[in-house]
Amino acid sequence: MRELDGKVAVITGAASGFGRELAIQCAAAGMKLVLADRDAAGIGATVALLPAGTEVLEQRCDVSKPNDVEALAEATYGRFGAAHLLFNNAGVAVSGPTWTTTLDDWKWVLDVNLMGVVHGIRSFVPRMLAQGQPAHVVNTASAAGLVSPPGSSVYCVSKHGVVTLSECLHHELTLGKLPVGVSVLCPAFVPTGIGHSERNRPAELADANPEGEIYAELMRKAIAAGKLTAADIARITLEAVREGRFYIITHPTIKKAIEIRMQDILEERSPTNTLRVTPN
Ligand SMILES: NC(=O)c1ccc[n+]([C@@H]2O[C@H](COP(=O)([O-])OP(=O)(O)OC[C@H]3O[C@@H](n4cnc5c(N)ncnc54)[C@H](O)[C@@H]3O)[C@@H](O)[C@H]2O)c1
Repeated sequence: MRELDGKVAVITGAASGFGRELAIQCAAAGMKLVLADRDAAGIGATVALLPAGTEVLEQRCDVSKPNDVEALAEATYGRFGAAHLLFNNAGVAVSGPTWTTTLDDWKWVLDVNLMGVVHGIRSFVPRMLAQGQPAHVVNTASAAGLVSPPGSSVYCVSKHGVVTLSECLHHELTLGKLPVGVSVLCPAFVPTGIGHSERNRPAELADANPEGEIYAELMRKAIAAGKLTAADIARITLEAVREGRFYIITHPTIKKAIEIRMQDILEERSPTNTLRVTPN
């Protein structure tokens, strides 16, 4: 999608981090915005950073709830009549050994990170196919969708799921010569609110991994040390959208870890712990 000016961008997780920066840069490119998040005050704070005159629809939306995402699509088409660029971006993270991971950890993270993307595709892609104008979907996965570091099984399962579902979707749309493109965004560590995801945990899923903190502390340090900013990620992502690129690997040095994992599989050797080659 070369031209963004005048088009409509829908961004989930727009109250913080990547979502906020995507909103700022989409607005700078002349786009109309639909900003969705479970954090309504945070959406307001994002709106305050946008250029004056930006057309914005703010919508409180929990992406783990299919009805919320369907209501988001209805509101988008009601207000703007189209959605040209959808960022399925909202996400949360937990850490800890797999054997002490709770069912609440699994349910929360998979419902937001994986099913949130599924709901976005189910509610928006049929409308995009019917709108008579090309569209593009960017699913936020992670480098954790391409490698398998220790202490990250729940997060990695959710993000590997987003990568493969994006690949399947791409094939289906390409085979049908349909006017909807797909990209999958796979950043490594970037300083945002992701290391403090517990703020987004619903009260009914409060049972957290009792061993989680050991890995969570390491994760927060790695995130804080990330050299690229959320604004860098948004810029690289919009470049990829303009170029119609599928894989968005924002930290090129992660490719070494991906290569090692692929070689492990092809040579049927035990998995290498690539965390030590995962860049900040
Ligand atoms: N920061 C990183 O290092 C990093 C690396 C790779 C991938 N990611 C992914 O990037 C995406 C954005 O995360 P971020 O780093 O900007 O973190 P962030 O915490 O700053 O932003 C995440 C946003 O998602 C929202 N959110 C959480 N649960 C929600 C729900 N159920 N419904 C709607 N909104 C919800 C939060 O309110 C927040 O505004 C996530 O999918 C994350 O997994 C982040």
